[in-house]
Amino acid sequence: MTEQSGQSPALDNLSTESRVFPPDPAFTGAANVREGAYAEAEADREAFWAEQARRLTWDAEWSQVLDWSGAPFAKWFVGGKLNVAVNCVDRHVEAGNGDRVAIHWVGEPGDTRDITYAQLKVEVSKTANALASLGLVAGDRVAIQMPMVPEAIFSMLACARLGLVHSVVFGGFSAAALRSRIDDAEARVLITTDGQYRRGAPAPMKDGTDEATAHTPSIEKVVVVRRTGSDVQWTEGRDVWWHDLVDGQPEEHTPESFDAEHPLFILYTSGTTGKPKGIQHTSGGYLTQAAYTHHAVFDLKPETDVYWCTADIGWITGHTYIVYGPLANGATQVVYEGTPNTPHEGRHWEIIQQHRVSIYYTAPTLIRTFMKWGADIPEKYDLSSLRVLGSVGEPINPEAWVWYREHIGRGTAPIVDTWWQTETGAIMISPLPGVTKTKPGSAQRALPGISAKVVDDNGVEVAHGGGGYLVLDKPWPSMLRGIWGDPERFRDTYWSRYAEQGFYFAGDGAKYDADGDIWLLGRVDDVMNVSGHRISTTEVESALVSHPTVAEAAVVGAADETTGQGIVAFVILRGTAKADDSTVKVLRDHVAAEIGPIAKPRQVLVVNELPKTRSGKIMRRLLRDVAENREVGDTTTLADSTVMDLISSGLKDSA
Ligand code: WTA
Repeated sequence: MTEQSGQSPALDNLSTESRVFPPDPAFTGAANVREGAYAEAEADREAFWAEQARRLTWDAEWSQVLDWSGAPFAKWFVGGKLNVAVNCVDRHVEAGNGDRVAIHWVGEPGDTRDITYAQLKVEVSKTANALASLGLVAGDRVAIQMPMVPEAIFSMLACARLGLVHSVVFGGFSAAALRSRIDDAEARVLITTDGQYRRGAPAPMKDGTDEATAHTPSIEKVVVVRRTGSDVQWTEGRDVWWHDLVDGQPEEHTPESFDAEHPLFILYTSGTTGKPKGIQHTSGGYLTQAAYTHHAVFDLKPETDVYWCTADIGWITGHTYIVYGPLANGATQVVYEGTPNTPHEGRHWEIIQQHRVSIYYTAPTLIRTFMKWGADIPEKYDLSSLRVLGSVGEPINPEAWVWYREHIGRGTAPIVDTWWQTETGAIMISPLPGVTKTKPGSAQRALPGISAKVVDDNGVEVAHGGGGYLVLDKPWPSMLRGIWGDPERFRDTYWSRYAEQGFYFAGDGAKYDADGDIWLLGRVDDVMNVSGHRISTTEVESALVSHPTVAEAAVVGAADETTGQGIVAFVILRGTAKADDSTVKVLRDHVAAEIGPIAKPRQVLVVNELPKTRSGKIMRRLLRDVAENREVGDTTTLADSTVMDLISSGLKDSA
């Protein structure tokens, strides 16, 4: 176990926060879920999840709800068969809802596409036929690196339809990051675009994927969607335009049924070592929990609501709450391609006004950005359609929560602060709108059918008012089924810390308040959370030391007002390298090129020494004190206790 990561500054006032917002009785009367659901699920967890699984259309009934005999490798709905894409698309058309809009797509430059469920069925079927024509068969891996264009969603659903395992790689990740993910999963096909719109201008996309695929032996074909019309390099025989491949395909595709445990996707996420983990999710359990939580937590009424989740499909939030959950529930949703301030800072509110969005799900970092831009901006728009607001990705500080409720939710819309992870697949801890008395800054309570506890080092549950580590003590349907190609790492990372008790260790600090509600306190391992994105300190350190001027590097996540944490790097340069601004810029750019712009350090500080314990472990806690301008803490375990004085005085001199 490593030392406690710094908490978000915003969390400092958590201990004093005591405001409570009871639900509006009118909302409660019509809410999808009642208070009784908790007790009902508690009485028979498996029966509860079996009931939720019936939200889906199965081709064969399961014989067993949960097989936990191979723990920690779970099997849910054993023997059940279904097709995930049929559940997300075809069945809504068959139920007579083909004319309902599935996706109001809004492009950054202002172009739009409204796609009904009937049209989505055609698009997904054509894409499935196209992928099958490339010789892909169930179980093969397909990498997807795309901006938020409809074809990205068609591609994911076409994979699901064929039993192909997609691995979506966030569009902002570098060529090197894409390459390592393609290699790890041995993907046969990559789907991408020529370019992407970013802050009002076309930016390249295929240049990066070309760089990645120059070295990936497993890639046979690269399918390219034309989005920006920019010039691209072309590799004959390997590259194929989407419109050449897909447009002429038949509009019908006969789906096959797959086992409930058939792999649906791999999604890479940062762990405590440099190598990202390929988190594996399967079909039946994942879709069950995605659909149930989307219905329960957002109080979705598919006939009348317009839902909008602002995540990118490159993250788990985009997978579960743009693609699988909402579409399984037959929702109408907005999908927006661009940045929130293009062409102006009111873009989100303009979209909400135009589409009468009623459920809006975003991240605290963006809410804090909106606060900075000013409340006068949302005030110019009609946001009266909004009735549920969601937050995800990091702890939300009470100020941001209250601002969100006041300025976006007109002081009435319930806020659901949803805690979950790439690994959990779907929401685990959250208030329920209309049911829970909400508290700014607290995710509060495990959902019906889910069990979470705050425990101490020995795995003993702490008392109300106490703090410790968050664990999940009962298996859940959408739980990860492993790390791609690395079962040992799966056991080590999540199950070894509380092996005796059989708890899943989430890696988050948490506490109970006096009522027993859960407050999340940030990561306790070497994973940083920057704007809701997980980045490991080791990943950034290894990017830094891969640069010829760097001898050693230590990276910490320091509290940051807007992004939650900011990346601060301490580097020791080699021999003759100069500690000047240009070196710092080169190193920041180098990290962006190695991992992606989201990993670019906020600060690079050149030092002569790093604080290490006698066993050679870098004491990040002390560096964090420096990065956050605090008095440096206890240095007694340092091998050389004068190091911190040297670092602090060196930094003062150069400031
Ligand atoms: C953090 C994102 C506090 C947490 C869905 C977790 C949160 C990590 C919350 C997972 C929340 C996510 N309150 N912390 N509501 N939601 N986190 O895998 O540290 O990108 O372990 O999944 O984000 O990040 P991931």
